[in-house]
Amino acid sequence: MRTPQVEADPTLPPEITIYEVGARDGLQNEKSVVPADVKAEFIRRMAAAGLSTIETTSFVNPQWVPQLADASEVLELLGDEGRGPKRPVLVPNERGLDRALEAGVGAVAIFGSATETFARKNLNRTVDESIEMFRPVVARAHDADLWVRGYVSMCFGDPWEGPVPVEQVVDVCARLMDLGCDQLSLGDTIGVATSGHVARLLDALGDRGIGVERIGVHFHDTYGQALSNTLVALRRGVTVVDSSAGGLGGCPYAESATGNLATEDLVWAMRGAGVETGVDLEKLLETSAWMARQLGRPSPSAVVRALTPAASSD
Ligand code: HMG
Ligand code: MG
Repeated sequence: MRTPQVEADPTLPPEITIYEVGARDGLQNEKSVVPADVKAEFIRRMAAAGLSTIETTSFVNPQWVPQLADASEVLELLGDEGRGPKRPVLVPNERGLDRALEAGVGAVAIFGSATETFARKNLNRTVDESIEMFRPVVARAHDADLWVRGYVSMCFGDPWEGPVPVEQVVDVCARLMDLGCDQLSLGDTIGVATSGHVARLLDALGDRGIGVERIGVHFHDTYGQALSNTLVALRRGVTVVDSSAGGLGGCPYAESATGNLATEDLVWAMRGAGVETGVDLEKLLETSAWMARQLGRPSPSAVVRALTPAASSD
């Protein structure tokens, strides 16, 4: 397999944590429903490829996201491999938390919105109402010793509202962190962020006391900017990066959302720059090629296409 020539980039951190979202963000957006045993196998293969943190599924209203209605079944199939602080699941409300606790999870993620329109479309709530919905979820999750992540969507632009003021984003981020989230993930849901914007938001969060050590970045690659935006965040000290194997992904309630930054594209870039990810790129490529065959369509990842041409023409 071809690999990039390694030339250490001293402006980047020595290692990063990849927060893998393909099984959740990726599969929630597939037209067809992937069978639970295929999902479990996908997660097992990603773990075997060295991905330490894997978001497995969502305990949302199954009528809203039928693709992940089998969340309990997937976790049952995974057994201990699907539990623990590095296997988070999405939960929007107490009903979702009850289901997640019943399934024995060790970590959850709530997901808010920086804009009113998307809060309505994704959560059927205003921003204020959604924060009140999350409050008992975070409190009860901590009582149960779960790790809690707080996503904020539409941090860099909204398909209905257009530009989103940085201060508005910072306010919502601060409110989620005040609930007690352990980590914040900045969602570029529709992939419109560019480098200066990323830097400005990170600086504004820092000014509000939310440091880079508590922040993850979640870039969708709609406009091909996800990797360059990630590099900006890494150079400002962020070390947690969300990505999806094979570049699967999107959000069913945000039409212009496409896949996340592909994990392979991230791993290739980090490998070349001498940044440790813990991922075996070859094994991950095999996994994404296998998943592309299950889905019956090629991976959108440039690295997957370049290194496994057969997978792209399947
Ligand atoms: P609602 O319809 O307002 O819910 O939806 P409700 O509280 O009125 O309840 C209605 C019924 O749904 C009740 O049943 C509840 O029990 C049931 P009934 O009493 O009528 O028989 N229900 C549930 N059932 C199972 N599990 C649950 C649950 N909740 C309610 N958790 C709700 C409100 C928040 C539930 C809904 O809007 C929802 O599920 N939204 C989730 C949408 C979603 O999953 N979007 C994708 C994830 S976000 C994303 O992708 C962005 C991200 O990647 C970052 C980025 O890119 O920006 C994270
Ligand atoms: Mg997303």
